[in-house]
Amino acid sequence: MCGIIGVVQKHGDVAPFLHQALKRLEYRGYDSVGVTTIAAGRLYIKKEKGKIEEVHRRLNLDDMPGSIGIGHTRWATHGIPSMLNAHPHFDCNNEISVVHNGVIDNFLELRAELKEKGHVLKSETDTEVIPHLIEDYMRDGLNLFQAVKETTKRIEGTYAIVVMSTREEVSRIVCTRDGNPLVIGRKEDVSYVSSDIPAFLPMTNDMILLLDGEIASLTADGVRIEKLADNSEVKREGIKISWTADQAQKSGYPHFMLKEIHEQPEAIKNTLRLRDDVIREAARIIHSSKRVIMLAMGTSGHAAQAGRHMFASIAGVLPVFELASDFPDTVYRTLTRNDCVIAITQSGETTDTISAVKYAKESGAKVVAITNVVGSSITRYADYTILTQAGPEIGVAATKTFMVQLAALALLALSLGELTGFVDASVIERKRKFLQRAPDIVSETISRNEELARRLAGQMYDKPSFLFLGRGVSIATAEEGALKLKEIAYNHAEAYSAGESKHGPIALVQEDYPVVFVAPNDETRSRIIGNIMEMKARGASIVSVISKDDKELASLSNHVFTIPEQIEAEFSTMIFVVPLQLFSYYMALKKGYDPDKPRNLAKSVTVL
Ligand code: AGP
Ligand code: GLU
Repeated sequence: MCGIIGVVQKHGDVAPFLHQALKRLEYRGYDSVGVTTIAAGRLYIKKEKGKIEEVHRRLNLDDMPGSIGIGHTRWATHGIPSMLNAHPHFDCNNEISVVHNGVIDNFLELRAELKEKGHVLKSETDTEVIPHLIEDYMRDGLNLFQAVKETTKRIEGTYAIVVMSTREEVSRIVCTRDGNPLVIGRKEDVSYVSSDIPAFLPMTNDMILLLDGEIASLTADGVRIEKLADNSEVKREGIKISWTADQAQKSGYPHFMLKEIHEQPEAIKNTLRLRDDVIREAARIIHSSKRVIMLAMGTSGHAAQAGRHMFASIAGVLPVFELASDFPDTVYRTLTRNDCVIAITQSGETTDTISAVKYAKESGAKVVAITNVVGSSITRYADYTILTQAGPEIGVAATKTFMVQLAALALLALSLGELTGFVDASVIERKRKFLQRAPDIVSETISRNEELARRLAGQMYDKPSFLFLGRGVSIATAEEGALKLKEIAYNHAEAYSAGESKHGPIALVQEDYPVVFVAPNDETRSRIIGNIMEMKARGASIVSVISKDDKELASLSNHVFTIPEQIEAEFSTMIFVVPLQLFSYYMALKKGYDPDKPRNLAKSVTVL
């Protein structure tokens, strides 16, 4: 994926805004960056390999004339990160400038055709065919809007495209999408378009959705949207966004990730305020289905796995969990119209998840989505959406959005439990009360473990490999702990069911090998003690996350993170994962890595 921004205004230079907006989008990709503006009928271009601030130091991105411009921060799919492959891309005469997010599947064919016609393509990207196709249509007499429309008929794949040209009489940006996100922002005398809301959030809270198969023309005066299929005009009401610009700033924290870990109590609190009827309707859809399938990727997959346990023990419903990427090859074949799919994706844009949901819809199954982004693609494919309330998450490693997914799943499990009657009403009531206290418990868990996480990272940063073990719902916690460590500190970290560990992974263990146990005081505890003993007998160094009163487990461990109070077993992931998030953060720091921008990763993966 990558980050796209475009702005057209009546007066003043847009370059400083584009630079700041790209910084807010950098979590979407950061291998190269580029900006073009138009002033006095001429394109001004700056692009280079590297992160935005590096490129800014070399090229001064603020110093470009013009009140219209577009920018891009790239996560390469076609062609190495380099100046030539950086977006924007241009036509033969540098009159048309294009930024693109996505993949053009038929680019080889189009490249060959364009070269045959005499076009000179300079990069290795799939994107570069787009400005050259537009060039041909404009040469035939079409204006930019019409030329982009024609171009969409030629390209296959997924895209969000933002274009401008010096050949237009009025300052205009044209944008269109199919499969990748674009949102439009409006305020008096300025129009914005971007891959994501935070890019223009400091300027406006007024957003207009652009849907797949639509094309928009943006001028400083307003926006016109048309359907590509029949050229009909789309009249769409704007949406007021409740997120604040401040939520998308670091507010004094050294990194977004640390800020977002600290925002978790607030995020849970806001999500627990979701209206009862919103949750109840989702529970009703699930209850009326024959089978429930949970789909997600990465951290959202871990939320699904924890959610599966919540559903099973509170509602007596055991969903099937499948990675969205594998779903078309596995569960899909067995799906019927009586089934229900719960798709979990914080961004709402993960291509694996969206594509699985499209398959599910084909089979007639009902789709309930859990997402954090209003108007994101998943909300349009799902029959029903639960919108979690974490606010914008900028750190590439998911933390607070994981928390709110767990909170939403907990609410859903309780509501479903009321419908199935699997446990007593009094049990549900007790668990509901516990959930209300979760924000405070998370908050205290952060305070009592942060310094320890920092110190432990200081002792363990040179350990190349870690094993994370848990049982029951804690396998999901262990998985998430291991993923965080891999993602931002680049340690080899494997998570396993503690029960499974003796069937193979234990062969890794030797003197001082670190094994992290997630060990709440639930029904798995006595068996976990057995697994700790097995590991100790092989010389492992035991790090455990335990309840603060668990003296026995503390005495068996070399290092302990403690949880301040007794937890309702099904909801333990929300609390027990917190020290592991902090540990990964401080490991990354100790090793000199930027936890907000891990190598090779992007915030949401919009390719299959
Ligand atoms: C989380 O830290 C990762 N960056 C990644 O695994 C992520 O959870 C996954 O790509 C799914 O994203 P989504 O929730 O936006 O669908
Ligand atoms: N395919 C384009 C490129 O490699 C866009 C990449 C993206 O969307 O991440 O430049």
